[in-house]
Amino acid sequence: MSDKKEKFTAIKGMNDILPADAPLWELFENTVETVLKSYGYQKIVTPIVEETGLFARAIGAVTDIVEKEMYSFEDSMNGDQLTLRPEGTAGVVRAVVEHNMAYDGPKRLWYKGPMFRHERPQRGRYRQFFQFGAEAIGFAGPDIDAELIMLCRRLWDDLGLSNIRLELNSIGNAEERQRHRADLIAYFEANETVLDAEAKRRLHANPLRILDTKNPAMQDLVNAAPKLLAYLGGESLAHFEGLKKLLDANNVQYTVNPRLVRGLDYYNRTVFEWVTDELGSQGTVCAGGRYDPLIETFGGKPTPGIGFAMGMERLIELIKGQGEPAAPNQCDVYMVHQGEEAQLKAFILAERIRDAGLDVVLHCATPQGAGSFKSQMKKADGSGAAFAVIIGDDEVKNDVVAVKALREADAAQQQASVPFDEAVDYIVDQVIGGHDHDHDHDHVHYHP
Ligand code: HAM
Repeated sequence: MSDKKEKFTAIKGMNDILPADAPLWELFENTVETVLKSYGYQKIVTPIVEETGLFARAIGAVTDIVEKEMYSFEDSMNGDQLTLRPEGTAGVVRAVVEHNMAYDGPKRLWYKGPMFRHERPQRGRYRQFFQFGAEAIGFAGPDIDAELIMLCRRLWDDLGLSNIRLELNSIGNAEERQRHRADLIAYFEANETVLDAEAKRRLHANPLRILDTKNPAMQDLVNAAPKLLAYLGGESLAHFEGLKKLLDANNVQYTVNPRLVRGLDYYNRTVFEWVTDELGSQGTVCAGGRYDPLIETFGGKPTPGIGFAMGMERLIELIKGQGEPAAPNQCDVYMVHQGEEAQLKAFILAERIRDAGLDVVLHCATPQGAGSFKSQMKKADGSGAAFAVIIGDDEVKNDVVAVKALREADAAQQQASVPFDEAVDYIVDQVIGGHDHDHDHDHVHYHP
């Protein structure tokens, strides 16, 4: 064995969420979940790994995700072809079909979790990233489309985010896209000299995706290309108009972007993206649309569906940009103690205070030892606790504890000596009763 200790680092494009950021994530997740529940959405959890074929079938074989971004591998035990999920819709739809979930009425579902795409990492684009998603299965009209969009709007409001705008489009049904596609191919063929290599490769396989190009040299060509909106038939148009009417009536601002086609193939009719200018090139914080044909593709009875997913890292970064979150508190009470008997009492009291609903950190020994009172008090200060409870020989002898206010506002109050058996009531009173008005057990106070 070599003496050299190897240092490991996280996989490129995959991030640790450290304790300093964890409270903001927690608050963000609680806010999203509260909003999802307020619209009647129910939680679903599906595995992170699925058969590779599931994603190829759902997302489409000629898409960036399936062609070059999937973490696929062979299960060395049995040779199965597996993939780390690049998104959540395919797994949810698989579960809905597998468990016959859509046949006893429509379902509103939500999920959260890590997704994996082998993209080139940059700000806002990671190889492991977290999504919150919602899928409404079994609803046909534009009303559910409007509801999902309004759910997002409420969420941005609740998070204090004002710089997110909505882009909307309808990409019609398969037949309408087919007619548009034929004209689009003819148009690009007539202008083949302007196409880059990728566009040429996609010309016959997936010409719609050419409209998505970021290549500046192709922008004029793409801008003048036949617009899918002009090919929509009566039903698709009525659906789109119905959605716009509901959004207008509810004061939801949006821009119709005829070039919005999305990077996944399962969509039909409504597609939308929530975009901000504050995150550089990765400004789409939430995106989704209708996928009416997908469930049938998976062997289910024809059942319409629509959903969205939001990138959690991007939204967290936006929230941070709105103002520095206050330093998170680790606990309400920090227990300082010295001596064997004091330690026993500290353990007992800490458990009782936790029983009463407060968060307590009990000082524990490090490789340097238990630490002096002074060094323990430093830890107490650093923890953000409102109070330190101190137990030493004198306190043990007199069956009391010392309770010291640590926040500046409480400093005048100094230190109180409280009988051991009354300590829990006293501390709860102090923490809840006015010394910590915004005590909410999330220990995060950010000011949007
Ligand atoms: P998507 O547009 O591929 O759609 O991803 C949705 C959101 O996830 C994006 O708008 C972005 O905020 C975030 N996201 C995507 N890739 C990355 C990445 N590499 N790093 C960080 N964030 C990322 C879907 O995934 C669909 N399943 C949405 C949907 C649900 N449609 C219907 N239902």
